[in-house]
Amino acid sequence: MLKDYDTLWLDEELREVKYIDQTRLPNELVIKSIQSLDDMYRAIVDLEVRGAPAIGVFAALSMYVLSVRIGGETLADFVREYIRCSDYLQSARPTAVNLSWAVLIMRKELERYTLHRFDSYLLDSRLEGIKLDDELRGYIGNVMHAKALEIYENDINVCKCLGQNGLQVIKNGDRILTHCNAGRLATVRYGTATAPIYLANESGMNISVYCDETRPLLQGARLTAYELKQSGIKTTLLCDNMAASLMSSGKIDKVLVGCDRVAANGDVANKIGTLSLAIMAKHFGIPFYVCAPTSSIDLNVKSGDKIIIETRNPSEVTTKWYKNRMAPEGVDVFNPAFDITNNELITAIITERGIACGDYTNTLASMFE
Ligand code: MRU
Repeated sequence: MLKDYDTLWLDEELREVKYIDQTRLPNELVIKSIQSLDDMYRAIVDLEVRGAPAIGVFAALSMYVLSVRIGGETLADFVREYIRCSDYLQSARPTAVNLSWAVLIMRKELERYTLHRFDSYLLDSRLEGIKLDDELRGYIGNVMHAKALEIYENDINVCKCLGQNGLQVIKNGDRILTHCNAGRLATVRYGTATAPIYLANESGMNISVYCDETRPLLQGARLTAYELKQSGIKTTLLCDNMAASLMSSGKIDKVLVGCDRVAANGDVANKIGTLSLAIMAKHFGIPFYVCAPTSSIDLNVKSGDKIIIETRNPSEVTTKWYKNRMAPEGVDVFNPAFDITNNELITAIITERGIACGDYTNTLASMFE
């Protein structure tokens, strides 16, 4: 059962990262182990590990695992290789801020330890003179290990608190629509949009969840419907283009989604299709909530139009799920992985620190600065 596992974790003995391969769900529950940078990069790009908070934690554990394997004669050699690895890993996916958030925290920890800022590959010459012996390697390993585990445990606690806060907006009998997977598989354990849902269910509330299948990669069908159903929550799957019809028939009380990046003004980047849900929710007068842990909030980006949107391979739309091509050879394909939902369409942003609404620029700044 999925609930017997975290989405990813550190194998302390083998010093490798273990994770549930999400591309194999819902048919097989496969656990993979990795140690190399190329495998880590590929696991993120291919969405074996996906969901904004999960890729952040995965990057932190990966940087620890890589740090115990980096070779070299001097501390300068080590740092150069560490920077190369973290830059490469961070480039795997651009939209979710959690990836760069985690890589940066790990890097800052190494900077703190070595008392050097690594703004470039041109390092202070003093690092060239420090021999990378076993003792030094051991110290660096311990520092990286502690920080990576802190990020891992933090994700679990943050999702728990976010769930408690989100419970305030859920009522007995609610019929909730969600999009993509902001569930346990997108985090270490509880999910973001699903955390209040799991708590409501555990507390005996009668709730039901409608899951958009989420074209083109079907995270809603393959992952959210799978994990909610395994948890015994009443779950109904729909194609994305059925949401308006469902809302118009009065069967949805609220929408709860996750996010990949929240800009300082409350604009939200999330899985493609979120924007249309928000517009429809406004039209039908249905509250639209975004669940966001601190690691997804980016006060450095002023508004949503500044967020880079990942564009993915056309084959995800034309061939990936089909025995035969489902579109003519050579047709142009529009395949952005995320869209931006304007803050005016969002009823509230639920975080582990509280619920932000109204003037997001001020409320988010006061909560997160
Ligand atoms: O491309 P994915 O599957 O990584 O996209 C994931 C989403 O858009 C999720 O909704 C988002 O990361 C929030 S997860 C808590």
